[in-house]
Amino acid sequence: MAKKNRCVTAQVEFLEGFCVEVIETVQEMQQRSEALRSAGQTISLVPTMGFLHEGHLELMRVGKRHSDKLIISIFVNPVQFGPGEDLDQYPRDKEGDLKKARDVGVDIVFMPSVGEMYQEGYQTKVQVENLPQHLCGLSRPGHFDGVTTVVAKLFNITRPHMAVFGQKDYQQLAVISRMVMDLNMDIKILGVPTVREPDSLAMSSRNNYLGAEERKSALSLRKSMDLAGELFQGGEKKAKVIRDAVQSLILSHPFTAIDYIALCDPVTLDDVEVLGDKNLLALAVRVGKTRLIDNCLLQNDSD
Ligand code: PAJ
Repeated sequence: MAKKNRCVTAQVEFLEGFCVEVIETVQEMQQRSEALRSAGQTISLVPTMGFLHEGHLELMRVGKRHSDKLIISIFVNPVQFGPGEDLDQYPRDKEGDLKKARDVGVDIVFMPSVGEMYQEGYQTKVQVENLPQHLCGLSRPGHFDGVTTVVAKLFNITRPHMAVFGQKDYQQLAVISRMVMDLNMDIKILGVPTVREPDSLAMSSRNNYLGAEERKSALSLRKSMDLAGELFQGGEKKAKVIRDAVQSLILSHPFTAIDYIALCDPVTLDDVEVLGDKNLLALAVRVGKTRLIDNCLLQNDSD
């Protein structure tokens, strides 16, 4: 067996002798980031809620390529979950996450407790006004306030030059980009294309909830986006026609219920009735009890 390396307190030790630095307090993280910045190092941050999959890891690879040091956060943020949502069941795997983080070359994992992030008396939130009032914001009131609040806090704590987010959560990426612009945060936001399972289901920690038959029905999201793409490329410009086709295809699969099918402007997220050159098709579908989201751009091939 390989000889164990001894690591300092804030680090996790693995049998192979490799360590990943884990920081659990805000103060320590701020000091560590400040020291890195003073030493002239650039920092990327990948915020996550853990239960890491290939989608998260891809964000980390991108972050690693773009900076000297890569920090990830693992924090299941209670304030972005509504009553009756899956906060309590949200999957967690600390040991597995740390191994994956180490293998992908993460330098520091910031893993605070809820009490560390939201101290007693906490009463401030960051709110983007309009973008959250579309798509997921309609069925998840307050969700994006929770996201922008925690991401702003994570930015203040980890002090990154750049932060990486997935385009799978298109609206989240749009809302965070808006916050960064509006509040003059000196942080570059990078969006990474959706990583999919071999059968094309968008990777998500929530895929874990799906039973075998539900898993098959979940493929209807990607199939319906392909169909929408074909209709659009064939010249169809009426949003209603495309929406109806997407809806029929999804509902022809068992266990599915539509939360929304939206065709909208990719910048404002306002619904469009007649498609322009560049449009966002965004879906939220319940498969059994699991709510899945996915999206794609419908744009002319030449764009
Ligand atoms: P979480 O769902 O853990 O996702 C963390 C990041 O991974 C997000 O930027 C998300 O868009 C990205 N991601 C998830 N699945 C992906 C996939 N299949 N392909 C590419 N990227 C993917 O999103 C959150 O956490 C939270 O809201 C957070 C931003 C951490 C704030 O709490």
